[in-house]
Amino acid sequence: MPVSEPASPLEAQVLRALDTVQDPELRRPITELGMLKDVRVDAGGGVAVDVLLTIAGCPLRDTITADVERALAAVPGVNAVSVFLDVMTPEQRNALKDRLRGGDPVRTIPFNRPDSLTRVYAVASGKGGVGKSSVTVNLAAAMASLGLRVGIVDADVHGFSVPGLLGITRPPTRVDEMILPPVAYGIKTISIGMFVDGNQPVAWRGPMLHRALEQFLTDVYFGDLDVLFLDLPPGTGDIAISVGQLLPGSEILLVTTPQSAAADVAERAGSVARQTGQKVTGVIENMSWLVLPGGERLEVFGSGGGAAVSGRLGDTLGYPVPLLGSIPLDVALREGGDGGLPVVLADAAGAAAIDGAAENTGEAGDTAAAELRRIARELAHRPRGLAGRSLGVSPV
Ligand SMILES: Nc1ncnc2c1ncn2[C@@H]1O[C@H](COP(=O)(O)OP(=O)(O)OP(=O)(O)O)[C@@H](O)[C@H]1O
Ligand SMILES: [Mg+2]
Repeated sequence: MPVSEPASPLEAQVLRALDTVQDPELRRPITELGMLKDVRVDAGGGVAVDVLLTIAGCPLRDTITADVERALAAVPGVNAVSVFLDVMTPEQRNALKDRLRGGDPVRTIPFNRPDSLTRVYAVASGKGGVGKSSVTVNLAAAMASLGLRVGIVDADVHGFSVPGLLGITRPPTRVDEMILPPVAYGIKTISIGMFVDGNQPVAWRGPMLHRALEQFLTDVYFGDLDVLFLDLPPGTGDIAISVGQLLPGSEILLVTTPQSAAADVAERAGSVARQTGQKVTGVIENMSWLVLPGGERLEVFGSGGGAAVSGRLGDTLGYPVPLLGSIPLDVALREGGDGGLPVVLADAAGAAAIDGAAENTGEAGDTAAAELRRIARELAHRPRGLAGRSLGVSPV
């Protein structure tokens, strides 16, 4: 670090305050990232800070400037703050990238490192439109509210929807070949939708899809995550297999509806899991019923599909595959998606309920938000780490 030892108590306080300023995308202190070039504190309490941006025209330059100003304004004795922005040299950028990779060779998937503690959930379904993407963003948002470090890879190349569901319009920042995912509601999110123009259809086939997914997983800097979700396209096609191959430690969350064709879905999903050695963590039934104004439940799509899939998968795979929850049809969920604000954060019970105080005592499950938060809490409390891993032989 070019910043030398503090010359005065005030300078020491200024440096401590700067330790609290994070790069908005990398989510680590700018002091750790080599982004603090110089700090000058004059006798009258004026502070000048030179900050090095990772790239010229960094879209978050104003955020970084404001965060530095805010942090220093809180230091007693500081009367004026000037922030000067400059851009890293290629050498400084390389040093930053090395630090972020933690000394890893360049092209590896960090989630496959033997010491990775990230749980990776691939959210899959047998057919389209059952609510995978909605479930993914809501579980992710609820877990982020619980304090977990969460990321999403939108692996639905042809029907990407995650940026819209999270209200993300900003493209990712690139630092040379490294891609920094935009962050929304604390969730680091990357989607193929961020790399295509407007509504252009993406006409990619198997090998290109595999390659694109591999690139996401290697070039995108997620940092240390507790949980990574992959929102898969419908069905048991190329991408589902690619995910199994590229992330052998990932587990499958299967989303289904109450309809009875569910058993076939279970067979197909089970055979992919067997092929790839992935564990199926559980089944989530969505669109289970609609609560009528009188309070009764109307089972629009029938009933029992989730339980049937869970039972059948358990038989096929030889270990219990629980039904993790049943999410009702709920206009608020759809509205949250359309508005880019996940319903688990938007609904009346709100983020305060995420810690469980309200819903552990009351009746849960009549709103989609309450049920999604309950499932998120259950998944968040599962032990992390190597114990839950498939060894790539056969599922245990
Ligand atoms: N529980 C629910 N209540 C009301 N609407 C829902 C519910 N779940 C999903 N929807 C709506 O159904 C539509 C499809 O949901 P979503 O996009 O999440 O499904 P998907 O399985 O990801 O679809 P695809 O297979 O196309 O990727 C969306 O408009 C969404 O808002
Ligand atoms: Mg989807």
